[in-house]
Amino acid sequence: MRKMIEICRMSADDVGEVARIEECCFASPWSEKSLREEMSNRLAVYFTAKENGRCIGYAGFWNVSGEGGITNVAVHPDHRRQGIGSMLIEAMIKSAREKKLDLLTLEVRKSNIAAQSLYEKYGFVPIGARKRYYSDNDEDAIIMTKPLD
Ligand SMILES: CC(C)(COP(=O)(O)OP(=O)(O)OC[C@H]1O[C@@H](n2cnc3c(N)ncnc32)[C@H](O)[C@@H]1OP(=O)(O)O)[C@@H](O)C(=O)NCCC(=O)NCCS
Repeated sequence: MRKMIEICRMSADDVGEVARIEECCFASPWSEKSLREEMSNRLAVYFTAKENGRCIGYAGFWNVSGEGGITNVAVHPDHRRQGIGSMLIEAMIKSAREKKLDLLTLEVRKSNIAAQSLYEKYGFVPIGARKRYYSDNDEDAIIMTKPLD
């Protein structure tokens, strides 16, 4: 049976659970403080994926000058390959279209094939690279964008 997953706008109440997701997904996780600050950032639009009321994934973008810059997409390791990353991307695309943004853009590690595959599935295309963008291991970033119509 398909799980009941709810996609909601992230609120300050979600910050603790989202910080735990960050910790198990990234080498340099965002702190609870940074996430809390994002909740009062007028440019930021974040969504959570919840199962039985608990956050199991989150994603968001900054709405800057007509472009949506995706800051993060993360799904708890126990809940991957179940379509949750896709649901979060779909929520961001819908929101960006409603806000009449021209495009969505993001940086992704060159080695992160899982995330690149997810973005490609939704029409993001690589448009360039940023050399040694990630300071923890000097890894290059691939820049991917999706034009919105
Ligand atoms: C990238 C990530 C968000 C994907 O989330 P997910 O919920 O597993 O994604 P979905 O189940 O919706 O997968 C959608 C598609 O993405 C691609 N994909 C996802 N995981 C993949 C993997 N491990 N290997 C290859 N392709 C993968 C596939 O095309 C998949 O479609 P399919 O299941 O029909 O083959 C998740 O792996 C994650 O949180 N990774 C760690 C954090 C991260 O790297 N975030 C991105 C920062 S730029």
